[in-house]
Amino acid sequence: MKKITKAVIPAAGLGTRMLPIARTVPKEVLPIVDRPVIEYLVQEAVDSGITDILIITNRGKGAIEDYFDFSPEYEAALLAKGREDTYNEIRELPQKVNVQFIRQKEPKGLGHAVNCARAFVGNEPFVVLYGDDVIMGDVPCCRQLINTYEKYKKSVAGVKAVSDELIVKYCSLGVTALDEALGEYDIYDMIEKPSLDQKMSNFSILGRVLLTPEIFDILDNTPPGAGNEIQLTDAMGTLCKSYGMTALDFKGKRYDMGSKLGFLTANIDVALQHPEVSEDFKKYLKSLNLN
Ligand code: UTP
Repeated sequence: MKKITKAVIPAAGLGTRMLPIARTVPKEVLPIVDRPVIEYLVQEAVDSGITDILIITNRGKGAIEDYFDFSPEYEAALLAKGREDTYNEIRELPQKVNVQFIRQKEPKGLGHAVNCARAFVGNEPFVVLYGDDVIMGDVPCCRQLINTYEKYKKSVAGVKAVSDELIVKYCSLGVTALDEALGEYDIYDMIEKPSLDQKMSNFSILGRVLLTPEIFDILDNTPPGAGNEIQLTDAMGTLCKSYGMTALDFKGKRYDMGSKLGFLTANIDVALQHPEVSEDFKKYLKSLNLN
């Protein structure tokens, strides 16, 4: 079985939930303490064995590209000051993975964005990391999906049970259990932004999928759906019925970095662990006397 080495990160959404800042700073480069969201995604992919990443961007997101380039002005300044450690740290990421970029010229939906990756992906399975979903845990989420793919040899969706309040904004999956203890289910259907009457279960896809290349022909024939966008969920609905698809209730904590609350929560959780600031930050939080 061929190793999975390619990942696609769609990052061309408008980010309207993060306005007004999204007008000028892409949500993918907003910081979690001192590193941009996109670095967490790339790191997760690298830690899962991915060697080639395509990031799908659009106008105004050049800051993402700059982050994966060398920065001669900083590097010279750091060397002049004898700060080799920081120099090595900022050179490490651009060197350890091949990151490429392509633009989605119009925000026609996540399905349309993934379809822009066809030439990059070719005829092999690949993982998709939604550009605003950061997942932290002991085993990288992409790795968990790859392990499930190797077991069942079908596309995989990373899922979690969410509240009724959220399911109507996300998608709902129709599933039957394969191995409940391991969180593995067979998916027989899915629906994007269901009403509560249409809900099949509270399992929703949260930020990670592993797709076989049949998805591209399906996407070519998927008409615009909810919100008049080409929905990846609609295409995966066809994929699961024609080729089969597995759901994995993955282990890890997911942060919706496209929402203000997700952005704040991630920053607090990481700050509480950060060697440079955690002690002072804890003292500060205590001083607030929150109940
Ligand atoms: P979201 O719906 O969460 O992102 O899409 P959005 O459209 O940026 O968010 P809001 O609702 O306006 O705040 C899920 C993922 O799909 C990407 C987004 O960048 C995000 O990573 N996406 C979405 C695209 O790449 N292109 C699109 O046309 C739409």
